[in-house]
Amino acid sequence: MPRIAPQLIRSALSHSPELAALLPACRDLNSAFNELRWIREHVDKTVGFNRKRHLEKLCQKRGRGVPLQYLLGTQPFGSLNIKCKPGVLIPRPETEAYVCYLQDLLESGNLLGQKLSELGNLRIIDFCTGTGCIPLHLFSTLQRSVRSLEVCGVDISLVALELAKENAKYNVAQGYMASSNDKQALSFQKADIFRDTDIQQFTGLPWDIMISNPPYISRNVWNYGRGQMGYSTRKYEPRLALVPEDDMPPAPAGLLPEDIFYARLLDLAQTLCPKILLMEVGDEKQARRIVQYCSRHTFCTQAQLTVWRDWPDVAPGSDKNTEDSDFTICTDDGKRITVPVKGSGNIRSIVITTII
Ligand SMILES: C[S@@+](CC[C@H](N)C(=O)[O-])C[C@H]1O[C@@H](n2cnc3c(N)ncnc32)[C@H](O)[C@@H]1O
Repeated sequence: MPRIAPQLIRSALSHSPELAALLPACRDLNSAFNELRWIREHVDKTVGFNRKRHLEKLCQKRGRGVPLQYLLGTQPFGSLNIKCKPGVLIPRPETEAYVCYLQDLLESGNLLGQKLSELGNLRIIDFCTGTGCIPLHLFSTLQRSVRSLEVCGVDISLVALELAKENAKYNVAQGYMASSNDKQALSFQKADIFRDTDIQQFTGLPWDIMISNPPYISRNVWNYGRGQMGYSTRKYEPRLALVPEDDMPPAPAGLLPEDIFYARLLDLAQTLCPKILLMEVGDEKQARRIVQYCSRHTFCTQAQLTVWRDWPDVAPGSDKNTEDSDFTICTDDGKRITVPVKGSGNIRSIVITTII
């Protein structure tokens, strides 16, 4: 990482030691000023005495790389405020973008072929739910348009599940969403998605939408960063949320160890039969491996695949040449298939629709 220029440190110090303390994490004065303002507002709202000492401490922690959301305690996600705690992954804006887009498509009827108001029932399951940001957002927004709604978030981590439940209570208390009732239910369940006995509780009922942002980072990137993952994430966010564990089953042919959750999610989709399966991916290379694998998977036999970029509803921008290109894959029996790539930004998710 390039060092911080002495001139920059001097400028920050001339304003305040707290601003200078933020520089190692923020890297430039503008970001440091913004973060200082947010941290000060947080201290003013939450701390009754010795505010200056608290402010100093938080700025020093932030300067050492502790994520801002762990210090402030929340991260906005759609119209909700999601509580964040060490031990649970902080929701990312990229995830928020495709979840909001999914919600728009569901409401407009462009995904299920019918507007939600006409559909009457909707059941959504989110595997690897973390803070619960995905089910919380979908539950809070779709409550308005669908009479009978069931949304379920699933995670292996008790710390995550506790926080997800806390987030539901908190957002109801803040007036950002209505609570569950006998027609509209939001729940969080513990399950290891690789254990068939854990999955049994979700079978036998029709799920319309299955969604997942699973751990998908390779051990190499986690251990050495390799420019794809910042120091702050590797030091302070949970490995369990980002990297498939070492004792996972071997990846099927054509996939790498970091892709193992996708193979399992496709098998689960085969059992749970959702109309839509949406999976977040790490980058274009991973997306290409998964799309290729999908072409061999029974769940996708009659399905349509689309790849979404970070902003699926925004036309390709200045990077039009690279952003425009669809994926072409060659199936095992020699057929060439084109998979449309939608939107602008980095490759972010794969959407599989079984109702064509
Ligand atoms: C990338 S995080 C996603 C969190 C959240 N959905 C989001 O988008 O911010 C992955 C989550 O998967 C959970 N997880 C890891 N292994 C799992 C497993 N075998 N079964 C279920 N959940 C698992 C982790 O605890 C973590 O909360």
